[in-house]
Amino acid sequence: MQLLPGFRDFYPEDCALRNYTLSVWREVASRYGFLEYDGPVLESIDLYKKKSGGELVGQLFDFVDKGERHVALRPEMTPTLARMVAARERDYKKPLKWFCAPSFFRYEKQQRGRLREFLQLNCDILGDPSPAADAELLALLIDILRGFGLGAGDFVIRLSDRDAWMQFAMGRGVAQERVLDFLGVVDKLERMPEPESRRKLGEFGIELEAVRAFIADPSAEAAKLQGILADLKARGLEEYVAVDLTIVRGLAYYTGLVFEVFDRGGKERALAGGGRYDALLEVMSDGKVRMPALGFGMGDVVLGNMLEEVPAAKARRDAWIAARRAAEVYVIVAEEARRPEALGLVQRLREAGLRTDFALSAAKVGKQFQAAEGLGAQYAVVVGAEWPQVKVKELATREERTLPAEGLAALLKG
Ligand code: HAM
Repeated sequence: MQLLPGFRDFYPEDCALRNYTLSVWREVASRYGFLEYDGPVLESIDLYKKKSGGELVGQLFDFVDKGERHVALRPEMTPTLARMVAARERDYKKPLKWFCAPSFFRYEKQQRGRLREFLQLNCDILGDPSPAADAELLALLIDILRGFGLGAGDFVIRLSDRDAWMQFAMGRGVAQERVLDFLGVVDKLERMPEPESRRKLGEFGIELEAVRAFIADPSAEAAKLQGILADLKARGLEEYVAVDLTIVRGLAYYTGLVFEVFDRGGKERALAGGGRYDALLEVMSDGKVRMPALGFGMGDVVLGNMLEEVPAAKARRDAWIAARRAAEVYVIVAEEARRPEALGLVQRLREAGLRTDFALSAAKVGKQFQAAEGLGAQYAVVVGAEWPQVKVKELATREERTLPAEGLAALLKG
């Protein structure tokens, strides 16, 4: 029985990596005042057909359920979030700052940085149309990556504006209903061979040179994004962003600011992407709720590749994992006759909140010390002839003391 392509088993070492990612995501998001929410794994396929659009619709894991509903595993969060907020908009003070970090499913070709099930952090601000909200979200994005030990030399956020591209297309005669298809072509230009780019743009009556000239001069866009850039500068975060019109984003609902994060080496696929979707709630609520919104999604796959490649980030990650895995105390049963006392002590140490381990069956004392070292334990506590005293050895310094077993938990805890 083989694992399905694009899916992962999580052995304990993989879970440790995943827990680290989730812990940094949650810690930084909550430092910025974002609240965690979640939605269902399964949604009606219409939600994505109507709201996500673009290539995502071809990547859905969909099926007809036993009640004849055509459903899909969620490929992204934004349509669900828009539905949830539109339904209970009055219950929350604006702006809403919400995040979630569950699993998503896309039937993509498995490749470096892309799987069929992945985790994705979503951070969104709803109810604030200002550049201050844009900058706040970008600052969060930057601080999350910095929280992993990545710096300005490792990644860059490329900022762009969907509006500018729409005007570009419509100014050159692309019909309104075909603008999204045109944007889909621009979104892929960097990954497409030149003859194919020319042919695809030709279908819209646009020359590759015109697109290249537009991308080559982002000064007008930089002026429009000035408010965001000044805000980030005031926070000392300007070196993490660059205006770059190659970004248009593949999803249908974006309306203005769009951005993607890339590794500076240009080796990886996008690490995160997002933007404004100021019209989505209105569409979702049949015109009842109008609320500006923006957000981003960051997957765990490209991020994981980067943490592996950047030594400082890898060291930070490995130290976090090692600190949580290590036993604090290892109780050594030096005389089997004392096992009941040892078990009582293990129990008290654990109740005191100390990560405590011991050998489940009789073993030579030397072997038990080896096990303690192997678990990276701080203390070995030897239960033997000295009972009700025990020998406490600090494994790093080899310092040994004989102490009463009574009250040991409190002592070690202190
Ligand atoms: P997206 O660009 O489709 O945006 O995905 C965002 C990030 O999710 C990507 O940059 C990548 O890190 C990760 N990702 C996407 N697909 C895969 C995959 N097959 N395997 C591994 N990682 C993947 C969205 O999903 C938007 N809903 C984000 C958003 C939130 N916009 C506003 N709010």
